[in-house]
Amino acid sequence: MKETLVFATNNAHKLEEVAAMLGGRIELLSLRDIHCDADIPETGTTLEENALIKARYINEHYGTDCFADDTGLEVEALGGEPGVYSARYAGGPGHDSEANMRKLLARLEGVENRRARFRTVIALIRHGQTYEFEGIVEGHITTEPHGNGGFGYDPVFVPDGYDRTFAELGDVKNHISHRARAVERLAGFLLNEKGKKEM
Ligand code: IMP
Repeated sequence: MKETLVFATNNAHKLEEVAAMLGGRIELLSLRDIHCDADIPETGTTLEENALIKARYINEHYGTDCFADDTGLEVEALGGEPGVYSARYAGGPGHDSEANMRKLLARLEGVENRRARFRTVIALIRHGQTYEFEGIVEGHITTEPHGNGGFGYDPVFVPDGYDRTFAELGDVKNHISHRARAVERLAGFLLNEKGKKEM
């Protein structure tokens, strides 16, 4: 029987990305698929904590193996800010990417060191064991936004080795991103484990 794993998200793009990397060998379910509409509180102070909170919530309430992700932009000159608070950096009720970017650029005005990285952490709970996978992409913050693609901080982030922002890189981003790297590690682990079992 095919192994089933819940991915604690309703983001169709993220689901597709992971499903493609698993090559159909594991059945992936979204929160919607398990009829979970809870707003899982992300009360952690690190990406690791938040990913684990989400994975634990599903594991405890639904009794299923599952994984969850959390991502942040970590800016060197700001001591790792906005980090775990990336989605709500500018405050306010919803997630406002424009306001978040404005705040970031304002805080970096006149600052020479613009080094930054995106970091994704995936927490997996499988057969009662907990695992973590990390994906990082290093780069720098521009002085003004460029490009219309992507989401979040994409228009102000240029990955190392490129001279365009994530928002200008189109599909390239999906291959080199922090999330792709973390997912690659998760998929490598899961497929390797399955391989061992099937031998
Ligand atoms: P999440 O954990 O994937 O929901 O990401 C948290 C926040 O980090 C998002 O709301 C965005 O502000 C930011 N973020 C995450 N991934 C990306 C990305 O690939 N590009 C730009 N911003 C991102």
